[in-house]
Amino acid sequence: MALLELQGVKKIYRQGKIEVPALRGIDLKVETGEFTTVFGPSGSGKTTLLNIIGCLDKPSDGRIRFDGQELGAMDQKGLAMIRRHQVGFIFQSYNLIPVLTAYENVEFAVRLINKHDDKELREKVMKILAAVGLEGLENRKPHELSGGQKQRVAIARALVKEPKLVLADEPSANLDSKTSEEVLQVMVKMNRELGTTFIFSTHDPRVMDYARRLIEIRDGLISKDQRRG
Ligand SMILES: Nc1ncnc2c1ncn2[C@@H]1O[C@H](COP(=O)(O)OP(=O)(O)OP(=O)(O)O)[C@@H](O)[C@H]1O
Ligand SMILES: [Mg+2]
Repeated sequence: MALLELQGVKKIYRQGKIEVPALRGIDLKVETGEFTTVFGPSGSGKTTLLNIIGCLDKPSDGRIRFDGQELGAMDQKGLAMIRRHQVGFIFQSYNLIPVLTAYENVEFAVRLINKHDDKELREKVMKILAAVGLEGLENRKPHELSGGQKQRVAIARALVKEPKLVLADEPSANLDSKTSEEVLQVMVKMNRELGTTFIFSTHDPRVMDYARRLIEIRDGLISKDQRRG
C-alpha cells in the first residue's frame, strides 16, 4: 500500500470574484521510503501541493489517502493529529515560535506528542541540533539567528519527532552550499535508517541531485515524473 495517494486533486483559490486554479488535477502515489523532489516554475503549485499533503489546507476536489486513511473523511481534530504525529513540515518561511529559543522550538515539537523522560528528551534534541550544525546556538531566540540558522532550527524541529513523512518547501533556499550539504546528509541518513519518506520542493540542483524521484509540476499539473537508480 502506498504511503500517500492523490487522485484528481484540485485546488482553486478564490480572490473575491476571481478564481485562481493552483492545482488542476494531481494524480500521485508515493511509497514509504521515497526521497522525492517536486520542481517547477514559481507559481506552478508546489507550496499548494505540499500544504494539502501536509493537512494544512484542504483540496477543492479530489481524494487523498495517507497511510491508509482517507483525509477527506476526517475532521479538523483528526487532521491535526496526523499533522502532529506523522508529518514533519519545513516551511518556506520557517514558522518558528519567536519567544522560544532554538532548543525550545525543537523540544516543543516532541512535547506535543507524548511524555518523555526529561534526560532522554534533552539528549535527543541536542543531538538533532548538533546534526544540523547548531551546536552552541541552542539558547538563541529566532531573532538572534540568521536566516540559514532559523532554517536549520525548522529542519531540526521537523526531524526530531521522527515522522513518517517529511515535507520540505525549498529547504535549502537560505543555506550556503556547505550547510545545505550537511542538512541533506542528515535527511539521507534518516531516510536510510528509519525509512522516513521525504518530499521536497526545490529549485536547487544540489537538492535535486539527492532525489531518487523527480516530479515536475507546471500550471498545477504534473508534467513529468521520473525515477532514477
Ligand atoms: N492563498 C492564496 N490565495 C490566492 N491565490 C494563491 C494563494 N496561494 C497561492 N496562490 C496562487 O496559486 C498559484 C500556486 O501558488 P504556489 O504558492 O503553490 O506556487 P509555488 O510553485 O510554490 O511557487 P514558488 O516557487 O514561487 O514558491 C499561484 O498562482 C499563486 O499566486
Ligand atoms: Mg512555493
